[in-house]
Amino acid sequence: MEEKRKIIMDVDTGSDDAIALVMAMLDEQFDLLGICSVNGNIEVKLTTDNSLRVVECCDKQDAVKVYKGCDYPMVSTLMPWTPQSTGIRSEGSANTPMPNPRREGTRAGDKEVHPEHLPLPEPKIREAKDSAVVWLINTLLEAEDGEITLIPVGPLTNIAVAMRADPRIIPKIKEIVIMGGGHLVNNSSPASEFNVWVDPEAMEVLLHSGCKITMVPLDATHAAYITVEESKRIREIGTKPAILVADLIEQRTIGYAQNDAEMKALKGAPIHDALAVCAVLHPEVLKNVLHCNCHVDISRGYAYGQTIVDRRERVHPEPLNCYFALDADRELFYNWMIDVLEKDKERRK
Ligand code: RIB
Ligand code: CA
Repeated sequence: MEEKRKIIMDVDTGSDDAIALVMAMLDEQFDLLGICSVNGNIEVKLTTDNSLRVVECCDKQDAVKVYKGCDYPMVSTLMPWTPQSTGIRSEGSANTPMPNPRREGTRAGDKEVHPEHLPLPEPKIREAKDSAVVWLINTLLEAEDGEITLIPVGPLTNIAVAMRADPRIIPKIKEIVIMGGGHLVNNSSPASEFNVWVDPEAMEVLLHSGCKITMVPLDATHAAYITVEESKRIREIGTKPAILVADLIEQRTIGYAQNDAEMKALKGAPIHDALAVCAVLHPEVLKNVLHCNCHVDISRGYAYGQTIVDRRERVHPEPLNCYFALDADRELFYNWMIDVLEKDKERRK
């Protein structure tokens, strides 16, 4: 058997993060070294708790630990005039419970897309004692060069802080496959995608790191939406993880139907984060991938948090620092999910 791909998940568990965690834990081609939680969809206490619930749902509590990460972005909430500090955001609708009491009212679809608690029992297990940043640094420093792939699917705070704290970790990273960013598709503002929007400076630190970076932006994740009809086949697999995935797809579809006309018509929802996990093993799932120069607007203007992709044809004045996918193969993605969940069912017999 081919050597397993060593990965670390960095999540703001939320509903699509939960699906991504299921796939990362159940695809046997992965060696999941650990899960780092971060503030994002909901506050880090809750993203940690939800991640623990998913680990137990997959019966992996003896195999993988959850490390609690940063509960504030690097700087975006320090300026009282930025929307990040008032807790307004949207993967589609919800408010980010930023550690700031001045949150606006919730909007339609909020509770379905990212409930504070996933529809799973309260966890019996607790997070590990090390903080996510400390564990990330120690784990990467002990690794060989280019040995570990990072899969961040929430704000990039933990990884950026770890890079700033100890740059020696950078050569240890094989690749960073990020669910984040948007080119023609955005959500938290007309110009930005939620994970980058929460902590724009953190994303920019990664884009300056020199690591191999693959961005799985909203342009790709919306192309790889999954429908309620398709979730029925997932539910029929009948295992706890499969039922959870089906529940979350249905929940997200209800949420998206309340504020996204296109997804309402499709009777489906994007499950952004799981596509990033798929892309690590099956990069062919990403289509129309630009090798480009990309930077984040951190000037705190109207486009604060925008991922700016340089598509000028002439010779690039700046280094090509990331692979940015503008499309995805929906069928390959769905079939991969079915395959992983069915193999898990076989192993449980
Ligand atoms: O914009 C989509 C991203 O924001 C996903 O990672 C979702 O979980 C939310 O964090
Ligand atoms: Ca996420």
